[in-house]
Amino acid sequence: MDVTRATPVLVVGGAGYIGAHTVKALSDLGYRPVVYDNLSSGFREACLWGDFVHGDVRDGRALREVMTTHQIGAVIHFASLIEVGRSVARPDLFWEVNVGGTTSLLCAMRECGVSRLVFSSTAAVYGAGAGEGNAALNEELPKDPTSPYGDTKLACERMIANQAAAFGITAVALRYFNAAGADPSGLIGEAHDPETHLIPLAIAAATGAGKPLTVFGEDFDTPDGTCLRDYIHVNDLAAAHVAALQAPLPHGAFEAVNVGAGEGRSVRQVIEAVTQATGRPVPYTVGGRRAGDPASLVADPARAASLLGWKAQRSGLLQIVQDATAWHRAQRYGRVAAATGQILELHRRAAAGG
Ligand SMILES: NC(=O)c1ccc[n+]([C@@H]2O[C@H](COP(=O)([O-])OP(=O)(O)OC[C@H]3O[C@@H](n4cnc5c(N)ncnc54)[C@H](O)[C@@H]3O)[C@@H](O)[C@H]2O)c1
Repeated sequence: MDVTRATPVLVVGGAGYIGAHTVKALSDLGYRPVVYDNLSSGFREACLWGDFVHGDVRDGRALREVMTTHQIGAVIHFASLIEVGRSVARPDLFWEVNVGGTTSLLCAMRECGVSRLVFSSTAAVYGAGAGEGNAALNEELPKDPTSPYGDTKLACERMIANQAAAFGITAVALRYFNAAGADPSGLIGEAHDPETHLIPLAIAAATGAGKPLTVFGEDFDTPDGTCLRDYIHVNDLAAAHVAALQAPLPHGAFEAVNVGAGEGRSVRQVIEAVTQATGRPVPYTVGGRRAGDPASLVADPARAASLLGWKAQRSGLLQIVQDATAWHRAQRYGRVAAATGQILELHRRAAAGG
């Protein structure tokens, strides 16, 4: 089935960081998104466009119900546990939510005749040796994840590829590099808890909202000794999802596509950009390397250009950091959450007679 603007699109995990930006992009273009999310790490305040349904991706019955009720024609699947460190401590949860959730989603799609899927994958499917010599990564490189998180994403890709071929689903797995930035509207942005991503941590350090940054290693074989990463503006990522929905691919096709800007930026360059955007220095200390941290993770985005007609537009480092800083200063979800907390506290005191 071709996806048109009249096709209701189920966005699983659409209350999260990248999901909310994709929902906005769909809505801006006249699509009809339906967010399905259990709000375990997402925000109801981020669901400003389309319908919202509270539910868990592992709940096949609820998925079938939402697909039928809303006449869903395509699915974008973001729902996942995402912290690499936690995946080492609790791989059981990651396999249950990430792989179990994708299993139940594919099953519901098959039963409801939904034949188009875009899946959130990650550069973490490539091995530790990928990017040696600071070379850009293409999709053909060996897959050898270094964490249970990466294992679950690679397992999902393979499961989707198998089922796409068997059941005539057209699927694209987008392997994101480092998502960053925020929509310039200031309405939605990044708010992970705990936050483990460099740009929000550096902004929090500069503005005094967080502790000083730790730079993990400055003895890598890179131009300034710190790690190189490929930062991709979240609005560019959102546009890649729309392009993947529209890509003219045959039934049963599965494609895995890197989504990155194709440029490596070092930790020091990020610190400089944050200093410039916030007008304040970033306090930091230099620590040792983290286990399994490659020197360089930079996308070769050629396939995204040829297959999806997609190219990063807003992913200059300073632009990303300026948008992230504006969002950090607006703190929209935090204020809502804080206000809710204060109201709950007042209710609690009133109930206690205080
Ligand atoms: N942020 C990045 O840099 C990055 C990089 C590579 C890949 N990814 C992938 O992109 C996707 C989105 O990442 P994000 O940064 O927006 O994360 P996020 O935590 O902000 O969003 C995930 C969303 O999924 C929802 N969710 C989680 N478990 C669920 C469940 N069992 N049922 C229903 N909803 C559930 C959460 O409530 C949240 O709204 C994830 O699959 C992640 O692995 C992210």
